[in-house]
Amino acid sequence: MPIVPKVPLIVPMTTDQNGFCVWFTGFSGAGKSTIAELLGRKLEQHGRTVSLLDGDVVRNHLSAGLGFSKEDRDTNVRRIGFVASEIVRHGGAVICAAITPYQGARDEVRTMIGPKKFVLVFVDTPLGVCEERDPKGLYSKARNGEIKGFTGLDDPYEPPNNAEIVLNTTDRSPTECMGQVLEFLTLNGHLAKEGSGT
Ligand code: ADX
Repeated sequence: MPIVPKVPLIVPMTTDQNGFCVWFTGFSGAGKSTIAELLGRKLEQHGRTVSLLDGDVVRNHLSAGLGFSKEDRDTNVRRIGFVASEIVRHGGAVICAAITPYQGARDEVRTMIGPKKFVLVFVDTPLGVCEERDPKGLYSKARNGEIKGFTGLDDPYEPPNNAEIVLNTTDRSPTECMGQVLEFLTLNGHLAKEGSGT
């Protein structure tokens, strides 16, 4: 009599965590990185391992050598999208923060990652406020003509028409904005409710 195992020899691999991607879009200086970092820390407190793909950082490594033409920006965004899609596929939480000025490229990464796992957050800080903040002094350089093709000044930004969340950073603090994103993630089943132990 052959011995038939009672348990299947091949156990399907499952993950107990849902992969998802939060993608921040908006002008330079809008507050994307600040809110992304706050969110990352909060998600870690929820027990998630978080990957943060920030445009400024990615451009020093994965996208080193790319400029700011439409083609290069779209390539940058696709590269970030590809890495994000792999993280999400393996059940990870990934936060991306890049200007992502073009609707077409944003829609591409949404499809790449999977629409149900993709949360687009429009950090809707008006250009004038970003320019006033000018945290890296780049707006002033662009106004002086030292930088050409700066988003919002002499390069386009297409406001998203399908963002899951629109953040107003002029009336709300970065922590309040982060809270809005966290609430969305919880309400939409991306994140377990605090204290539920799942
Ligand atoms: S994106 O358009 O490809 O999504 P990304 O977010 O990676 O842009 O990089 C934008 C950052 O690069 C800005 O926050 C700013 O620090 C810097 N930068 C340098 N030149 C430009 C430019 N011409 N337009 C916009 N950002 C620029």
